[in-house]
Amino acid sequence: MENDKPSGLIMIFGATGDLANRKLFPSIYRLFQKGKLNKFAVVGVARRPLTNEQFQENVKESLSDIAGGQDHAEEFASHFYYHSHDVTSSESYIQLKDIAGKLDAQYGLLGNRIFYLAMAPEFFGTIAEQIKAQGLSDTAGYKRLVIEKPFGHSFESAKELNEKIRTAFSEEEIYRIDHYLGKEMVQNIEVIRFSNAIFEPLWNSRYISNIQVTSSETLGVEERGRYYENSGALRDMVQNHLLQMVALLAMEPPIRLTDDEVRSEKVRALRSLRPVAKDEVKNYFVRGQYGPGSAGGKELPAYRDEHNVDSVSNTETFVAGKLLIDNFRWAGVPFYIRTGKRLEAKSTAIVVQFKDIPMNLYYGAEQVLNPNLLVIHIQPDEGITLHLNAKKAGKDIETTPITLTVSNNSIDRINTPEAYEKLLFDSMRGDATNFTHWDEVALSWKFVDSISEAWETEKDSSFPNYPSGSKGPECASELLKKDGHFWWPIEKLETGG
Ligand code: BG6
Repeated sequence: MENDKPSGLIMIFGATGDLANRKLFPSIYRLFQKGKLNKFAVVGVARRPLTNEQFQENVKESLSDIAGGQDHAEEFASHFYYHSHDVTSSESYIQLKDIAGKLDAQYGLLGNRIFYLAMAPEFFGTIAEQIKAQGLSDTAGYKRLVIEKPFGHSFESAKELNEKIRTAFSEEEIYRIDHYLGKEMVQNIEVIRFSNAIFEPLWNSRYISNIQVTSSETLGVEERGRYYENSGALRDMVQNHLLQMVALLAMEPPIRLTDDEVRSEKVRALRSLRPVAKDEVKNYFVRGQYGPGSAGGKELPAYRDEHNVDSVSNTETFVAGKLLIDNFRWAGVPFYIRTGKRLEAKSTAIVVQFKDIPMNLYYGAEQVLNPNLLVIHIQPDEGITLHLNAKKAGKDIETTPITLTVSNNSIDRINTPEAYEKLLFDSMRGDATNFTHWDEVALSWKFVDSISEAWETEKDSSFPNYPSGSKGPECASELLKKDGHFWWPIEKLETGG
């Protein structure tokens, strides 16, 4: 890693958009407030005509929800400049180059440049090509491209996009964001595994029965109907966030914690995923779409009635699947994943279920031993719970389930960095560990493609098959029942912290 207090010019393409306002400006502000940046300036780039002053006002407004967001807001916003941009015009890039050069000199940024693409992916290729053609990337310092999802729509389209951006940036200079990799407890998966003698020896098919990864949302598709219709939960969540969590859970210990080593172990884990043939999809994956329902006394519309959604849409808003990893460590251990919108709770958690002990000495009247579980709570709770069995206090030998919990909830959350804050900082100091390498993206798309192809050819006549505000479709439970398993109710496994 280069520098613990980096300097650089951040150019945000899509600077008037939602992501810039909700996540990026506040994240840069937090880094600024904590004194983590040495010298920096930001150029907001977007189509809308705005003056620097108007843009700076937007930036200040975006800080209004942050604790202490008024402190030094003026000074912070004075680092922000605006360029009204036409994505396809060479002239516009030449002007941008000029602005970048001036800010470089004015702030002493050493020619370091981050190009952050927070906008519609159809322009990614054009922007990268123009950055190169107009010499914006000829700079004395580092040049890095930070790119948001969706990274393609299938393996083929992702490859095409990758080839375009590779004309201007090398793989080492491309930072593909998967914001789950910036989450505190997702980053903790590796630490829990690789720093505890009590877990790693058990982390294999001899001791683990199955692993369950759930990411459930209460929100519906909101204003993103147009995008979501072409995506669905499989492309929106499984291809990236869920497979990334699976890779972190399944990978071998890296030789050391450098970005190359960690990412190559994740690649190996993804390479071991057993592909699901098109005619076998129904044995491994199920889908759902939300119908009308209610939550908290509020009536909620069906997916098909959302804005910009086809009234007979076949897009899935829920996916559950069983993954098998064909290597020595994991042969025969199912990794179950599920994700969906408009479910009863917003919650992301991983449940590692250990195998039963060989013989239950306490078997008898009502004394069913619970399997040991390690639960990693990712959000909204952050923490770890270990579920064990112990003796119930009293004269008889009776067992009772107990839990050991560590919860981050009691820690002052204000100071816990947000995912984007960490990722932006990492991109500025050249640490790519928590960004996805092209090989990971390619393997994930290849895995997902056969499932989406099967689903596109075979419509699901049961849609909508779960009411908004519910636990999701019944078929998700059946998927596990076939294997003699069930979904652990993660809402009941909360840390309680
Ligand atoms: C995004 C998806 O990548 O992740 C959204 O496009 C989804 O559809 C979001 O809502 C979930 O993120 P989080 O951090 O709220 O779990």
